[in-house]
Amino acid sequence: MPDVLKNDRFLRALRLEPTDTTPIWVMRQAGRYLPEYRATRERAGSFMGLAQQPEFACEVTLQPLDRFDLDAAILFSDILTVPDAMGLGLSFAEGEGPQFARPLRSKADIDKLAVPDMDGELRYVMDAVRLIRKELRGRVPLIGFSGSPWTLACYMVEGRGSKDFATLKAMCWNEPKLAHQLLDTLAQAVAAYLIAQAAAGAQALMIFDTWGGLLGPGPFREFSLRTMAQIVAALKADAASRELPVVLFSKGAGQHLAALADTGCAGLGVDWTIDLADARAAVGGRVALQGNLDPAILRAAPAVVRREARMVLDSYGNHPGHIFNLGHGITPEVQPEQVKILVDEVHQYGRTLRGGRR
Ligand code: CP3
Repeated sequence: MPDVLKNDRFLRALRLEPTDTTPIWVMRQAGRYLPEYRATRERAGSFMGLAQQPEFACEVTLQPLDRFDLDAAILFSDILTVPDAMGLGLSFAEGEGPQFARPLRSKADIDKLAVPDMDGELRYVMDAVRLIRKELRGRVPLIGFSGSPWTLACYMVEGRGSKDFATLKAMCWNEPKLAHQLLDTLAQAVAAYLIAQAAAGAQALMIFDTWGGLLGPGPFREFSLRTMAQIVAALKADAASRELPVVLFSKGAGQHLAALADTGCAGLGVDWTIDLADARAAVGGRVALQGNLDPAILRAAPAVVRREARMVLDSYGNHPGHIFNLGHGITPEVQPEQVKILVDEVHQYGRTLRGGRR
């Protein structure tokens, strides 16, 4: 059912085409800062209950769109569903973040890993994508996503969240072949996962490399960038995903933007530690940029939120290819009214900045 997209600002910006105003969506826009999200999560029983039942996943995906004038929807799921489907046993203990029952501890554990079946263990994700596309009825495009191999491996080897993911880093130095074996298996899994989401109806694809910035320059290229480049190439080689724009987000990797743009992606996520004018110069305007308000600013007074949002818009300037977003996910303490203030200011000021052209 090919529906006509009523709001294509986000996809136009990814193609570096002019838009009437700057598109905006918010990382983790469906999340605990919304009371309606907390209510649905309660009914679902747990985070995994939400993610694994397509009706619930669809409901929470649409919640932020009903409240705010957002320009894109993002599939409600998690990056850790892929390792879960690979047999690691994911759970989210209240207030403690993700945990794996069976983290990777040995070469034997890594040898056993296989690309999960997209129509088997991960079918619930594809069912959610199909249902969300249907329920969106062309309001805005739907973003599908995955974690990067590096970021997934961080959690799979550590077994939980960490400040430095030193266990995987130690493997990179002590057993580089084994680290590459793990990352290559994950690259295949991520490519298959994103291709399946494209086939199910996702209209753009994003790869979250949240922990890429923990690596020094050489290791970043070897252990993070390399597999993301492989994935972008695989997506371009498959009929289902060939036409879809891909956005790469390596948090804390502002110095690698040009190298990330060389992968052939359409856009790059940018955190708040770099000025968008510098980021744009670094990529020479070749790719779109998505970002980069510090999420903590959403805890400031409304006038500050508006001023800082205008500063981000001004730093990119009147060029095509800016998608407004936070520099990382929205946090649970944020008042939902603050997001409305942000979204409305971005659209209003973005329109002035662009002279209302289209
Ligand atoms: O953006 C969206 O609205 C779509 C949904 C989405 C979630 N996680 C839902 C979620 C997306 C895109 C993610 C990606 C994700 N998950 C990343 C990469 C992006 C980033 O934030 O860096 C990472 C590293 C994860 C792993 C993960 N999932 C962590 C560390 C946590 C716990 C953190 C926390 O806020 O407690 C999660 C849980 C999670 N994923 C929640 C949501 C809404 C909160 C869980 C809950 O409701 O209890």
